[in-house]
Amino acid sequence: MHKNVFDLPEIGRDSYSVLDRSELSISRLETMQGMISGNSLEHILSCLQANMELLHIKAKNYHWNVSGAGFQGVHGMFDELEDYARQVGDRIAERMRYHCVKVDATAANYLSHAWFSEGNADLDMDGMLSDMCMTLMCIIEKMDEFDGDLATYPVDQSMLQEINEGLGKYCYFVKSNMSHSSGDVSY
Ligand SMILES: [Fe+2]
Repeated sequence: MHKNVFDLPEIGRDSYSVLDRSELSISRLETMQGMISGNSLEHILSCLQANMELLHIKAKNYHWNVSGAGFQGVHGMFDELEDYARQVGDRIAERMRYHCVKVDATAANYLSHAWFSEGNADLDMDGMLSDMCMTLMCIIEKMDEFDGDLATYPVDQSMLQEINEGLGKYCYFVKSNMSHSSGDVSY
């Protein structure tokens, strides 16, 4: 027997439990589907954001510590790359917030997602350029792998493709500054 004026069944504690359970089931199902079909959008954006922050730190490290013949150009190029990585990191973070995903902006989180090693200030100019080239190739390959998982998110997919194209340009710039290099970035 219902007691409210509309004669509707009252939502008691048990009803909420049923609701919670069904929401949990849906969430679990979505997680399982993500595991079956590949990387989730949240995982992809979080990893990319973290690695863009690490790239920005590495590029600044080399901008500050590089020396040798051709210093001015390489010093400036690392600064441009740092600027690009920082802008991309911000763009991805803002896209994460659009998707209601929290941005774990901590050094510990970034390092736990690292795809590449941190910069080494003791390297000479060619060593820094070579390391940065490998770093960019690593990120580009990861992004290529993620592309297929983003088919149902065309806006995110297109954003990441555009970012990947920008990273490819910097890869070409970095390799072109290496001594004895033709600038050909194909491996
Ligand atoms: Fe500077």
